[in-house]
Order: sequence, then C-alpha cells, then structure tokens
Amino acid sequence: MPEPVERQERPWCTRLCAVVLQRREHRPQPLSASADSAVEDAEVGLTNRQIAGRLFVSEHTIHRHITSVLRKLDLATRTGRCCACRARESARLVDSMIPLVPGLEERLDEGIDAADVGAGAGHAINVLARAFTRSCFVGYDFSDEGLRLGAAEAQAWGLQNVRFEVRDEANLGEQDAFDFITAFDAIHDQAKPQSVLKGIHDALRPGGVFLMMDEGASSRLEENIDSPLTPLLYTFSTFHCMTVSLAYGGEGLGTCWGRQKALELLAEAGFTDVDVQTIEGDIEHYYYIARKRA
Ligand SMILES: C[S@@+](CC[C@H](N)C(=O)[O-])C[C@H]1O[C@@H](n2cnc3c(N)ncnc32)[C@H](O)[C@@H]1O
Repeated sequence: MPEPVERQERPWCTRLCAVVLQRREHRPQPLSASADSAVEDAEVGLTNRQIAGRLFVSEHTIHRHITSVLRKLDLATRTGRCCACRARESARLVDSMIPLVPGLEERLDEGIDAADVGAGAGHAINVLARAFTRSCFVGYDFSDEGLRLGAAEAQAWGLQNVRFEVRDEANLGEQDAFDFITAFDAIHDQAKPQSVLKGIHDALRPGGVFLMMDEGASSRLEENIDSPLTPLLYTFSTFHCMTVSLAYGGEGLGTCWGRQKALELLAEAGFTDVDVQTIEGDIEHYYYIARKRA
C-alpha cells in the first residue's frame, strides 16, 4: 500500500477503496493526494460538503480541487466525471474481459445467444448488446427493480437485441439455449450456488462458455492475509454477501469463497474444463472461463 494513503486520517475501508480505484485508473496527469481523494469521493457520489467533512478541509478547497481536476480531464461537470468513469468500466468489459476467451469476440460479432445471470441493473449486458449488435442477450435477476433500470437503459440506448427477465436462477430451467453466459460478482452471494451453476451448465449449448467474474481470493483465510483487499472483502462479505445468502436460508459462501471452492462447485456442476485468469490492473477479481463439453 503506498505510504501517503497509509498516513491519511481516513477510515481503512475508504483508504482501500482509494488504492483500488487508483490502480484501476489511468489519469492523463498526476493529481495531488488531496485532489485525488476528493475526486474519488466525488466519483462515488459524495457532495462537496461531505467530502470536505471527510478530508477536514473547507468546502471551497474541495470545489477548487474538483473544478481543477475536471478541467485537467477535459470534462465539464461532475456528471461528466461519473460518465467517464462508467465508460472506462464499459471499455474494460469489451476490451479486456471478452478477449480472455479465445475466439469469443468473433463469435459475438457473427451473432450468438448470450445470457447474464444476476444481471442486477443490467448495465453490463447492455454494454455487450451495444458492442455486439448481431448477438441476442438476456439478463436474468430476481430483482424486478434492478431489471427495470436495465430495460430503461436499453431503451435509452435504442437496443433491439437485449431483454430482461425476472427469474430465480436457482431454477433457471433452460436447456442448451445459450452459447455464452456471464455472471459478474453474482455467484458467491447466491442462496443456492450449486443449483445456479448446474442451471448455467444445462443452459449452455455443447461447447458453450461460462465467464464468471468473482472475487480474487483464496478459500483459505491464511492465504488471504497478505492481500490489501482482504479486510474490504471480508467486510463486504459479513455485511452483505454472506448475510444475504444466509437470509434466504442459503449456503452463505460469501465474498471469500475463493478459487478452490469456486473450482470445486464448477466441477460439481459439470464444468470439467475451467481456466482461471486475471486482468492486469484488476486486483479484485478472478475470471473463470468454464466450457461445457462439446
Ligand atoms: C452482487 S449483485 C451483482 C449485480 C451485477 N451482476 C453487477 O455486477 O452489478 C448480485 C445479483 O444477483 C441477484 N441474485 C441473487 N440471487 C439470485 C437468484 N436466486 N435469482 C436471481 N437473481 C439473484 C441479486 O438480485 C443481485 O442483483
């Protein structure tokens, strides 16, 4: 962890988030430490007053920092900054994640059937649908509130090749229906992860690919100790991921179910060919590329 961040009087969780964001970001010009902190807080939606309180400086100083950063980045407004941030994430999905699977980009270009499980607010699947207009996409989730946002975004973008469907993924109920299925941070907090993974395996056509992005942790606590992300991951886990699964009477795998457990459950679901990859600059995730036997 870099020295200046370590010394700042900010909560540990915020410091860790800052480190992660710093590593993921490619800024055209270096920013001062306080401007850097201010802009990261702005990125997650804090007001100038909230940021000022957090950094123990005046609101005026924060206003100055944000204005100067926006000017350096050639963005007119704070909203522009958020959009740029989102655009960067979208680009990462298309430019870094899809190429992890050899030949997938070409197949998506030609036109295949794809699904996203645990689609949430549907942004990822919309980004893919916008990038690969000959392919057909469906986003599943049991939250109709989230999917409504996805549908609204798809409509605003004029997408004709994506739809959203409320479905309990523990009973996906599809057979040989898709060539490609994704799950972004959406398996470890499932109540019945085994049923979900088995359903995904069944839903793929022979030779189909499941791309599962999940937390880059080991299943063994002692192997996670040295990672700067560990306190953050276990905190997310106890406050949300594990708890939400247990609340449904589920397995409670949690954020740090880890690589070993993930591989075990993928094998139980029928995936015998699984490749685990990472993306440079993303210390948070493992990318599991699981193929259904052809
Ligand atoms: C951590 S969120 C990830 C959302 C999205 N993939 C993303 O990256 O923003 C996990 C999602 O899985 C959904 N989910 C959990 N259990 C589910 C189930 N049994 N059936 C359908 N969706 C489920 C939740 O509603 C939530 O939207």
